[in-house]
Amino acid sequence: MTSGGDSPGMNAALRAVVRTVAYYRLDCAGIYRGYQGLIEGDIVKMDARSVHHIIQKGGTILKTARSNEFRTIEGRKKAHENLVEEKIDALIVIGGDGSFTGGMIFSKEFNFPVIGIPGTIDNDIFGTDFTIGYDTALNTAVDVIDKIRDTASSHNRLFFVEVMGRHAGFIALNAGIGAGAEEILIPEEDMGLDRLLNSLEKSRRSGKTSSIVVVAEGDKTGENVFELAKYVEDNLPQYEARVSILGHMQRGGSPSCFDRVLASRMGVKAVELLIDGKSNLMVGIQNNQMVAIDLEKAIKENHSMNKEILRIAEIMSV
Ligand code: F6P
Repeated sequence: MTSGGDSPGMNAALRAVVRTVAYYRLDCAGIYRGYQGLIEGDIVKMDARSVHHIIQKGGTILKTARSNEFRTIEGRKKAHENLVEEKIDALIVIGGDGSFTGGMIFSKEFNFPVIGIPGTIDNDIFGTDFTIGYDTALNTAVDVIDKIRDTASSHNRLFFVEVMGRHAGFIALNAGIGAGAEEILIPEEDMGLDRLLNSLEKSRRSGKTSSIVVVAEGDKTGENVFELAKYVEDNLPQYEARVSILGHMQRGGSPSCFDRVLASRMGVKAVELLIDGKSNLMVGIQNNQMVAIDLEKAIKENHSMNKEILRIAEIMSV
C-alpha cells in the first residue's frame, strides 16, 4: 500500500515491490487508499504486468489516504480480518512516519509482519539519508524559485517563498541553497525576527536589489508567511514584499531519475527482507548502501540537519 501524503516515486517503489515478488514467484496484492482501503477491503491482485509504464508517473496508482479509522482498535481489527481473508501474510507500507506509526502498532497488536519504505517529500525520516520523492520535490521547488527570481529582480522586490515541510526544513534548506536564496527559515533553527530584519537590511546596504527568503511551512519565526512579509514591510519600508506559497505542486510531477532508482532499490530490499523472515523494519539508504532500520527507531528518532549544509547557507547569504 501507499499511505499518507503522496510523493513522486511511490509508483516506482510499488513497481519494484510487485516485480520483486514476481521474480521470486510469490503472490502479491495491492491495497488501495492506504489503511482506509485495507479496512474497507479495497484490495486487488497484482502481477508484474499490473505495474507496467508507471515508473515515470507522479502520484500513486494505488491512491493514498490518511485514515482516522485505522487509529481505532476497531478499525485495525477490520483491517486484520481483511488481510486474513485475502490470505495476505505480510504488509509493505510506502509512506511517512504517520504511516509507519500505524504499521508498527498494527504489527505488534496482531503479530503481523510489516516493512516500511520511506516515501515522503519531507525527507524527515530517521535512518535514511533520502526518502522517495524528496529529490523530485527539491528540483520542483528550485525550478519555481528560479522563476520567482526573474520577477523579483525585475521589480526589485523581496519574495517570501513558502515550501512544504510541517516539521522539517530539508526542502527549504536545500532548495534555498540551490536557488541562491538570501535567507532560509526552517523549523529546526529559530532565526528570530530581529536577525531576519538585520540580515535583510544588511543585504540591501550591500547592494542587493531583490531578495528571496525561503520559508519552510513549519517555521516559527512569524505567525505565518503573510504576517512575516507584513512585519518586514512595516519595519523595513524600503522593501516591497510579495508572498508565494508553492504548496502541493511540490508533491506532483514525474519522479527524478534519482527517486526512481532509489525507489527501485528500496522496493527490492523490502521484499527480500520479508523473504528472509524479517519484520518491523524500515528500508533505508545510508552512504549509498541499502540498510534496514528498526521501524520504532525510524519513527521515534529525528533525522537531524547536516550542520555543514547549514553553514553553507549562512556563508552564501553574505
Ligand atoms: O508530509 C508531506 C507533506 O507534503 C508536508 O510537507 C505537508 O505539510 C503535508 O504533507 C500536507 O498534507 P496534506 O496534503 O494532507 O494537506
